[in-house]
Amino acid sequence: MKDLKIPQHIAIVMDGNGRWAGKRHLPRIMGHRKGKETARQVTSACSELGVKFLTLFAFSRENWKRPKLEVNFLMKLLEHAIDSELEYLKREEIRVMTIGSSEGLSERLIRKIRRTTELTKDHKRINLVVALNYGGRQEIINSIRRLASGKSPEDIQQTIDALTPEVFDGYLDTAGIPDPDLVIRTSGEMRLSNFLLWQSSYSEWVVSPKFWPDFTREDLIDAVAEYSERNRRYGGLR
Ligand code: FPP
Repeated sequence: MKDLKIPQHIAIVMDGNGRWAGKRHLPRIMGHRKGKETARQVTSACSELGVKFLTLFAFSRENWKRPKLEVNFLMKLLEHAIDSELEYLKREEIRVMTIGSSEGLSERLIRKIRRTTELTKDHKRINLVVALNYGGRQEIINSIRRLASGKSPEDIQQTIDALTPEVFDGYLDTAGIPDPDLVIRTSGEMRLSNFLLWQSSYSEWVVSPKFWPDFTREDLIDAVAEYSERNRRYGGLR
């Protein structure tokens, strides 16, 4: 543990909730409920390790295609978590942020998110970034719109001429958040699934075979240990 290289930012695709439930002959929503507990444990573990940013993929733009019952349950689960976890967020000094679009979310949920981000904005221990109604391609399109918004054609041209990856970073939902050093995906799937497309260009990936509800603190430490062994070259030489 002592020699672990701790990533500044870990991002996680919490996959396998449905299959976890299916294996136990339970409705899929039970997998999400258990997955929420795992999210809390992993947040605490990251905080203890000294990770400064943890991004959790809670709901993708594509997840609206799921049955209404499941979508509604996930939304309620998030709403409920915001209320029930507030004391925990305060005690553990966790700052909550969100990335993704508010389009399609209920007014109530939007209000609760705003309140939580405001109430936790001075917390310094760890930043918990919840990717909610998030899709990487849409984020890039929205960033281009932001870049052009309110500008004259000449100003747009000037902005585009001077554009660098570092400047573009500032238009993304993740402006101010460092790129993830490590991306973890559970349930053995090796797919990006439209997650942090721009930001994960040089991230190290670790895929765990476990379903998200079974993922433990020890599995997180194993993933960090694997990351520690990697030799990040960013396209250069060692
Ligand atoms: C993917 O598993 C998981 C989701 C779409 C939802 C993840 C949400 C939570 C764990 C809720 C709590 C989160 C926070 C931040 C409070 P899946 O349903 O795609 O599983 P499957 O591939 O086995 O069907």
